[in-house]
Amino acid sequence: MAKVAVLPGDGIGPEIVREAVSILHLVAPDIETQEALVGGCAYDATGHPLPAETLELCRESDAILLGAVGGPKWDVIPDPDLRPERGALLPLRKHLGLYANLRPAILHKALADASALKPSLVGDGLDVLVVRELTGGVYFGQPKSNDGNRAIDTMVYTKEEIVRIAHVGFQAAQKRGKRLCSVDKQNVLMTSVLWRDTVNEVAKEYPDVELTHMLVDNCAMQLVRNPKQFDVIVTENLFGDVLSDEAAMITGSLGMLPSASLGTGTFGLYEPIHGSAPDIAGKGVANPLATILSVALMLRYSCGREEAAQRIEAAVGKVLESGLRTPDIAGAGEATVGTIEMAEAVRAALV
Ligand code: IPM
Ligand code: MG
Repeated sequence: MAKVAVLPGDGIGPEIVREAVSILHLVAPDIETQEALVGGCAYDATGHPLPAETLELCRESDAILLGAVGGPKWDVIPDPDLRPERGALLPLRKHLGLYANLRPAILHKALADASALKPSLVGDGLDVLVVRELTGGVYFGQPKSNDGNRAIDTMVYTKEEIVRIAHVGFQAAQKRGKRLCSVDKQNVLMTSVLWRDTVNEVAKEYPDVELTHMLVDNCAMQLVRNPKQFDVIVTENLFGDVLSDEAAMITGSLGMLPSASLGTGTFGLYEPIHGSAPDIAGKGVANPLATILSVALMLRYSCGREEAAQRIEAAVGKVLESGLRTPDIAGAGEATVGTIEMAEAVRAALV
């Protein structure tokens, strides 16, 4: 029997995770869930944003469902290593070896109006997968320091780190449109020179996948110029952070996109790509769909329940087609529903 660690976190986290967990229980009643503190609320309660009990629970679970961490209240914690993002989210990813972050940016046809791009570019939907390296690069490289006059971040990649994420990119492409675009800054960065050489080497094992390379600045531009040219994008940590937010906005709203962070086995961490949205926390208007869709990814990648994953995705599709909209995905003047109503509609649409 699978066990899932549920970490609601801060801001809108608890509201959206509550709804997502109720849907998990409906489609997979045998999966056990257990909650723990993470982020600012954990800092307030225990003095650390990632308490040892929470990490312990994560280690003994088969998957983690996380809401969001952080908020203005905790941005002022004097030790930056105790702030929720750096003290909880990054160590969770690193300690658990979750090096592959999958961020599918799917624009449902019914939401074409919500996209930041013209219907002529995205009118009949969009489906791009961003594969982001998650435990290397400038986020974690040493030295890292700031003495008030001079600050240092270090971008480091080993060949091994690039090889394993390249395999994830190629294998994802094999299951989809068989096109992989590797994004780097090879004209400037040494890590990118190694990145490109290594991806080219790994490519020999995937003759059925068409590989292209793109510089990150060009990719940022191409994503808004013609997003449909992309199938799977594979890139390093910081570039992937930026490009995945851009890809998300093209699909209409950050509130729609789930993510999966995977390591070697089936263990994974699942979270919406949006943050804790302190401005709307507690108002009951947050879009729960990114978290609900993260549950679908969890069922697919960590629990081997493809059918249950598809039930959730189909239900979300139906609800969107029926015209239900939370404020983040509503057009001007369109009627909106709240978090609970949206989740209730998904529950009702499950067949
Ligand atoms: C994300 C977030 C995080 C990141 C922050 C909160 C540390 O932006 O998951 O994309 O940069 O990885
Ligand atoms: Mg980000």
